[in-house]
Amino acid sequence: MPVLTANDLYRFYHAGEDETLALRGVSLAVQAKEMVAVMGPSGSGKSTLLACLAGLDEPDGGYVQVLEHRLTRRPETERSALRARYIGIMLQTDNLFETLTVEENLLLSMRLAGKVDRRRLDYLLGFIGLSDRRKELPSHLSGGEEARIALAVALAADPAVLLLDEPTGEVDGETELRIMELISQYCRSGGAAVLVTHSDALARQANRTIRLLDGQVTNND
Ligand SMILES: Nc1ncnc2c1ncn2[C@@H]1O[C@H](COP(=O)(O)OP(=O)(O)OP(=O)(O)O)[C@@H](O)[C@H]1O
Ligand SMILES: [Mg+2]
Repeated sequence: MPVLTANDLYRFYHAGEDETLALRGVSLAVQAKEMVAVMGPSGSGKSTLLACLAGLDEPDGGYVQVLEHRLTRRPETERSALRARYIGIMLQTDNLFETLTVEENLLLSMRLAGKVDRRRLDYLLGFIGLSDRRKELPSHLSGGEEARIALAVALAADPAVLLLDEPTGEVDGETELRIMELISQYCRSGGAAVLVTHSDALARQANRTIRLLDGQVTNND
């Protein structure tokens, strides 16, 4: 069974007379140990797709399933419980609670999943090279540091599926390699990842790449 299934997703945005077709029939199945890259020009629907996959946004048509659990069209309380338990998410911005320290952000993610693990917390902070920043508030971090912490938060509870929106958008080349290694390690140990990226280096690490254009998948590999 795929860890994550998206079936024929549609998402429309209305503003006055204008209608944007952000997603037009996107389907996707991601297996354990698989890393799928999503590429496409700005405005092609990548972030909309990720928000639907995470159950943060409701598609207008189609459905999303995590393992055997349907995520679409159920109350937000149930969706957020499934998210906390199974899904690690890193969006383009605003991933951290500003009033919580770095460490507290990771712990919160673990607590919500019922998986508090101090050794894992230390390991993740060490891996991204930010152990010494654990007591810091997010507002005191650089953009690249914040991105790395956001990835650690997404991985904190060892989720079944990891959804990442441009995880290396803010970082230098060396940090990008570090982040890529962390995602690869997660997939090798049984995780399933979908990552939106403009980076060819990152996409090359993936098992396959889905290309979006105007809300549709344009390739079939
Ligand atoms: N809340 C919204 N209201 C109206 N239109 C929206 C909304 N969110 C996204 N859109 C529109 O939907 C389309 C897809 O947007 P989306 O954010 O998914 O693009 P993207 O591929 O992630 O782009 P980028 O690479 O710039 O992040 C765009 O035309 C965008 O303007
Ligand atoms: Mg986007």
